[in-house]
Amino acid sequence: METQIKDLRGRAEAAISAASDLKELDEVRVKFLGKKGELTGLLRGMSQLTAEERPLIGKIVNEARADLEQLLADKNSQLKAAELQAKLATEKIDVTLPGRRVHAGHLHPLTLTLNRVKEIFMSMGYSVEEGPEVETDYYNFEALNLPKDHPARDMQDSFYITEDILLRTQTSPVQARTMERHEPNTPIRMIAPGRVYRRDDYDASHSPMFTQVEGLVIDEGISFADLKGTLEDFSKKIFGDKTKIRLRPSFFPFTEPSAEVDVSCVMCHGEGCKVCQGTGWLEILGAGMVHPDVLKMSGYDPAQVSGFAFGLGIERIAMLTYGLDDMRLLYDNDVRFLKQF
Ligand code: DAH
Repeated sequence: METQIKDLRGRAEAAISAASDLKELDEVRVKFLGKKGELTGLLRGMSQLTAEERPLIGKIVNEARADLEQLLADKNSQLKAAELQAKLATEKIDVTLPGRRVHAGHLHPLTLTLNRVKEIFMSMGYSVEEGPEVETDYYNFEALNLPKDHPARDMQDSFYITEDILLRTQTSPVQARTMERHEPNTPIRMIAPGRVYRRDDYDASHSPMFTQVEGLVIDEGISFADLKGTLEDFSKKIFGDKTKIRLRPSFFPFTEPSAEVDVSCVMCHGEGCKVCQGTGWLEILGAGMVHPDVLKMSGYDPAQVSGFAFGLGIERIAMLTYGLDDMRLLYDNDVRFLKQF
């Protein structure tokens, strides 16, 4: 049996050193040391040995196994190194090639516009508030001085989930929600951006879903001059230093007096062009002094404090700053359009 082991060892050693790749080497391992390999086969024959012979032969077999395993491992790393070397020799890296451009996404033009508007008001000390898009009739209308049968509701039909819950038609409900969150008469200086929903056509200048930014300032002695100064400052910051503003009397149930605010045309600067339809002016927002009843309903005392409010459409501002002639471009998600910002 000893000679058999010696013979096996000799053949295995020769096979290991002759193996020219990893696959061949593995075949050698299976042939000699595998479960059905020759060495295992020899071990089975040990049952025929005498009790004295057994430990002796066992030792020789174990030594043979250990030595062969070592040889296999050495040869394995040798072959691996050689294969890597060969692979490296065939691969060339041209370090002078220009890098591959990383296609990073970017913000949507509406988000960019909204961020700019937020930045401007935050720099004036405004906080940014949020309210729910699914709103109650109370906050969307009642708390804003629009009782159930008020005719001004007609212009703002929406999707009703129940009789008292609807998709909000304006960001103005955040006015009442913010006042209610404060101790009565504490000063407020906030904007509230968000989506609003109205039954409307879907065309170049209308959409049943759009984005508004509400503004609300309340403190002792807030006057119409504060409103005008704030809006003029904002308009210059967003449309440029030369921008003028103009206020026209208007009506909103939650402000008194109320105004529509125009800016001098961003395209022709007042000369008259297609964008401003020859008038030199563009309407950009609604505003006014907060109605005393609106203050009262949210726990504020109109005898102690006063305030102004405004609401502007982000789509309109985006269209004017980017020179877009169709609002739908902002919702189509056409990458050819979006890539340009
Ligand atoms: N909520 C009004 C609308 O959607 C816009 C508006 C006008 C908001 C005047 C105001 C405001 O806060 O004072 O038509």
